[in-house]
Amino acid sequence: MARPKARNSHTTALEVVEGVDSFGKTAIVTGGNSGIGVETVRALAVAGARVIVTSRSVEAGQKVTEQLHADGSIKGAIVVKQLDLADLQSIRNFTRATWQRRRAQNC
Ligand SMILES: NC(=O)c1ccc[n+]([C@@H]2O[C@H](COP(=O)([O-])OP(=O)(O)OC[C@H]3O[C@@H](n4cnc5c(N)ncnc54)[C@H](OP(=O)(O)O)[C@@H]3O)[C@@H](O)[C@H]2O)c1
Repeated sequence: MARPKARNSHTTALEVVEGVDSFGKTAIVTGGNSGIGVETVRALAVAGARVIVTSRSVEAGQKVTEQLHADGSIKGAIVVKQLDLADLQSIRNFTRATWQRRRAQNC
């Protein structure tokens, strides 16, 4: 088995997922519509994961998703869901919908 490469403060998200196969896995990235969140979404989706991008603005999340797909390296699916982490009702709605979907898929 190959030794994992050393990581440091210059290692990029894409370098971290090099050689990683995340097909069949689901990741949730909160604040995935900007900054470090976008690069996290990119790396996970390049590795093949199904990524749920949560954003306070679904429109902002969808815009970023379109930009990510435009570079052609995305292998996994990216879906956008509304979530405001400062709003408990929003968190309940998100977790309930995500849990129900997961249960439906496992039936
Ligand atoms: N340790 C390190 O080396 C390091 C390096 C870089 C960043 N960071 C940290 O990582 C975090 C992200 O950095 P960034 O540069 O990517 O910042 P950013 O571009 O400002 O992104 C912050 C994200 O959080 C979202 N957000 C803020 N309040 C929210 C809420 N109530 N509910 C849901 N989402 C919310 C924002 O959504 P909206 O677009 O709706 O505002 C945005 O998507 C920060 O805490 C930063 O300090 C750490």
